[in-house]
This record gives sequence, C-alpha cells and structure tokens, in this order.
Amino acid sequence: MAAKSAVARSLALNHGAAYGEAFADVYDRWYHQVTDSEATAEFVARRSPSGLVIELGVGTGRLARPLVDRGLTVVGIDTSGPMLDGCPSSVLRIRADMTLLPLVPTRGTGALQATALCGFNTVFNLHTAEAQISLFQQLAPLADTVIVETLKAELLADAPARSTGVGHILPDGVVVSSTVGQRADQRLIGRHLEILDGGVRVRPWMLRWVTVDQLDAMAARADYLCCERWGSWTEEAFEARSRASISVYRRTESR
Ligand SMILES: C[S@@+](CC[C@H](N)C(=O)[O-])C[C@H]1O[C@@H](n2cnc3c(N)ncnc32)[C@H](O)[C@@H]1O
Repeated sequence: MAAKSAVARSLALNHGAAYGEAFADVYDRWYHQVTDSEATAEFVARRSPSGLVIELGVGTGRLARPLVDRGLTVVGIDTSGPMLDGCPSSVLRIRADMTLLPLVPTRGTGALQATALCGFNTVFNLHTAEAQISLFQQLAPLADTVIVETLKAELLADAPARSTGVGHILPDGVVVSSTVGQRADQRLIGRHLEILDGGVRVRPWMLRWVTVDQLDAMAARADYLCCERWGSWTEEAFEARSRASISVYRRTESR
C-alpha cells in the first residue's frame, strides 16, 4: 500500500511539466553532451526533405540548435516554460503537451510533410501507453516521417527493484540517484538528490519504457511503419549489444 501511494505521488509529481520544473536549471550543465547532437542533426537533416522539423520535448534546444544551423525550420514543442526559456528564439517554440498538439495543417493545403523528432528517450517521458499511442496519432496529419530515439528497454527493465548510487560529482557537491523499478508497469521512478553545501534539492523523474516491438505496434496504430532502425545516430547496426535504438517511421497510408 505504501509503495503504491509513493508511486501515485511520483506520478503526480512527474506529470507533464514536472520534468522541466525539476531539471531546467541544471539541464544544460548536466546533459549538454548526453547524446551526440551534431550526429543527430546530420541524421535528421538527411531525412527532412521539406526542411521542416517538429521536435517533441525540445527542452532547452540541445538538439534543435544544430538543426537550425543546418538551415532547417524547427518547431519545438514542450510543456515546460522553464525549459523553453532556455531554448533559442531561432526555434519556433510552442508550449504544449505533445499528446495534445495544437497544430493542424491549413485547410486546402493537404497534410504537412514535416519530419518529427522525439529524441533522447522523450517518448519515455509519457507515463502511460495511451499517452504514447496518442503521440503518434497526433503526429499523423503533420509528419510523414517520425524519428524516435530510445534507450534499449531491456537496460531499464532489468534495473533492480531498488537501487541507489552516485550520479554526478559536482565541483561543490554530489548527486545521489535513487531508483525504483516497477517492471510490471514498465516504469522506472527516480530521484536525483543534489547535495550541496547549502542544502539538498530533490529532482524527481519517471520513465515508462517500451520495447521496440511495442513502439512499432503503437506507431502502426497511426499507420506509421518502421523503415529504418539503427543502433546510433552514426548509423551503426541495431543489434543485441546496442544500448539505444533510432527508429525511422514513415506513414503508409496515402493521404
Ligand atoms: C529528456 S528532456 C529532452 C530535451 C531535449 N530534446 C534534449 O534532447 O536535450 C525531455 C523534454 O520533454 C519535455 N516533456 C515531458 N513531457 C512532455 C509532454 N507531455 N509534452 C511536451 N513536452 C514534454 C520535458 O519538459 C523536457 O524538456
């Protein structure tokens, strides 16, 4: 019972904009090199013939900046005001929930041919299967190509039920990370405890991981078919030892 109410509290804490509330002030310092943003931009640019990219969960623009540098128009969607505040104005920033996109193609112009990017596990920031399915359904009228990057689900599924360890060492403190794995619900619930001379700050987070087969099934419900799958943004093969997956979905239905 106690464990269940802790999960419920974490769910509430992590819903929508809560990730940004918890991480916006440290995001660029802690995560600026978490994945290869230049290789991401190269990969996405080659698959964006219309020149228009919609980035879901754009955050502070870590992935959007190199896309703009390559001449692409980037619409950045994020629920978090504090994260969007760090995103440059060269990105067309829209504060919205990615499962309720406030974008519709102009009548008479047909469907948009944008490429949608959901990088760095951002789809795992949606905490129910319904929300993850809804993302693809929202994108269907807007994007003929959807590119999704996720950590391999098995790495998260095999996480111990409870663990604690040192996350980052900071010049003036340390970050201790405690994680609860809810395998049956495909969730990983964590707290980064940032311990500084001046006190402790708790930064909660939660992921709902899915396997690539589950991702494909969700995409298929919106008529997206996986056409490419890679193990990295530099197009290494996706194989058993890959830690990440890059999936490229294209709409199968003629519109
Ligand atoms: C892990 S960060 C990734 C930021 C950026 N794409 C990057 O790779 O650095 C996830 C982002 O998704 C945003 N986010 C989480 N849930 C969201 C939702 N339902 N709708 C829109 N954005 C959301 C968070 O505010 C956060 O900025």
